[in-house]
Amino acid sequence: MRLDKFLANNNIGTRTEVKKLVKAGRVKVGDIVAKDSGMIIDENNDCITVDGKPIIYEAFYYIMLNKPSGFVCSAHEKGENSILQLIHEDYRNKLYPVGRLDKDTTGLVVLTNDGAMTHELLSPAKHVDKMYYVTLLKPLKSGDKEKFESGLDIGDDKPTKPAKLVPISDNICNVIIHEGRFHQIKRMFEALDNEVVALKRLKMKNLELDESLGLGEYRRLTEAEIEDLKNNK
Ligand code: URA
Repeated sequence: MRLDKFLANNNIGTRTEVKKLVKAGRVKVGDIVAKDSGMIIDENNDCITVDGKPIIYEAFYYIMLNKPSGFVCSAHEKGENSILQLIHEDYRNKLYPVGRLDKDTTGLVVLTNDGAMTHELLSPAKHVDKMYYVTLLKPLKSGDKEKFESGLDIGDDKPTKPAKLVPISDNICNVIIHEGRFHQIKRMFEALDNEVVALKRLKMKNLELDESLGLGEYRRLTEAEIEDLKNNK
């Protein structure tokens, strides 16, 4: 990769700004002061420094956030109570959420700048499982589970695809859906004459919410978690 591209990708400055840094002799590749901003570097092995500070190469960022209620899954931090405001400013502008949760929904949100992964995870053809912990106003009824299985008319063109409901107690259950329709789980329970009073996403594909994260806290995904999300199975 070209040195100026590497520096610009890592938010050191625009291509013009980084050219000036190189000209000023402030950039080193290993022990050598870089002379040409167009020089080809090995981004995985060369140690690039600016004013002696190493620049760690990272093309993509992957984060899991435990979303609190009251925040919107927007792709711009300026929006009303955007979840991006919860993310450190060094990352904030690089990231966007993979899918959206409602403002009052809590739990797992993945944020990345990897467009290919986002596309794969959100593609309706891929049927990625999403698991939610649902608290209901009224007790579950016999037959609810089967109705989730066979699909519900929630007022869209088509009924919902088969979904799984696992009762936990009278008013609490886990639900697994493969689609991502607007207010989907709330509307599915409305169709059953019930009402969702709290909704928390626990899992997306095999990625589980790290319960050690408090509301509003986040952490980087591990290599294994990233590989698993990218895996086409
Ligand atoms: N279903 C909903 O109704 N809301 C969400 O935030 C996610 C799934």
